[in-house]
Amino acid sequence: MIQPQFPITRLRRMRYNSTFRELVSETTISTNDLVMPLFVTFGGKVKHEIISMPGQYRLSVDELVLKCKALWQKKIKAVLLFGIPEEKDEHGHVAASEHGIVQEALRAVKAEIPGMVLIADVCNCEYTTHGHCGTIVNGDVDNDSTLATLAAQAVSLAKAGADVIAPSDMMDGRVKIIRQALDNNGFYKIPILAYSAKFASAFYGPFREAADSAPAFGDRRSYQMDFRNGNEAMREIEHDIAEGADMIMVKPGLAYLDLVARAKTIFNIPVAVYNVSGEYAMVKAAAQNGWIDEKRIVMESMFAFKRAGADLILTYWAELVADILNGEK
Ligand code: PBG
Repeated sequence: MIQPQFPITRLRRMRYNSTFRELVSETTISTNDLVMPLFVTFGGKVKHEIISMPGQYRLSVDELVLKCKALWQKKIKAVLLFGIPEEKDEHGHVAASEHGIVQEALRAVKAEIPGMVLIADVCNCEYTTHGHCGTIVNGDVDNDSTLATLAAQAVSLAKAGADVIAPSDMMDGRVKIIRQALDNNGFYKIPILAYSAKFASAFYGPFREAADSAPAFGDRRSYQMDFRNGNEAMREIEHDIAEGADMIMVKPGLAYLDLVARAKTIFNIPVAVYNVSGEYAMVKAAAQNGWIDEKRIVMESMFAFKRAGADLILTYWAELVADILNGEK
């Protein structure tokens, strides 16, 4: 494309006036794009702040319902639920129990706010005694025996009222097995949001404090992706789509925007990005020191996600972003 050069062309002409800047702005964001992750725990009237994530809490079901009502009023229409159960076991079977913590939460929120989109994370790490995302065989997470526990968890969550199933475990073949299990149980209307390009990342540190899911030994590099690999991320996405994913995710967010952009260009499917706990913690810490302007950093990041091509943004800042978009902050 040939363009006239300076001084005929001056790109600053379109920046001098704020109303005009609005006219030519390329990217928009609304509360319809936001998903708020929430941590639900056992007990009553529990609102326990997560030290490394100021402003984020472990909530008991009653408090979670109050939170969801407040979010709904702010036009946040989707939440992602993580559970912290009272008891764990070797395989994470508790994750599939009818009265499991997320199952109770789903029923309670659905009863009060039927329109809210309830996304249930599917993974065993919050439910296993060792904190890994699946069943351990010979010192490593065994792929194929883990699939059955994930499918059982997904069906149990769908029965309790989940609107979207979001597997985050990174086992090969999980989308296929979960799709089959959902369909066999009549849940053919429930979409799958696959954490497809999920990397073994130090950015998840605060989450593991929040969800009490740090691995007791080793790390997650035998199942989560190597952060050096972008082509492989596209393969993961391709496989998940072939297995039946309705939406795919790139995670973490800010350091992986190249992959959001690639995924959006290559695949004709909604792309989600997860602005993870470590990204939140870093900005919060700097903001608390007065070193950065939190609101401006947050909005700049949100527009960066959208500019890269994300359709959905999972972010602990969803509420703050909504307040800003609604003109309340
Ligand atoms: C569960 C899961 C994790 C996150 C989302 N789902 C932790 C992990 O994989 O160790 C991280 C979210 C965050 O850091 O905000 N597997």
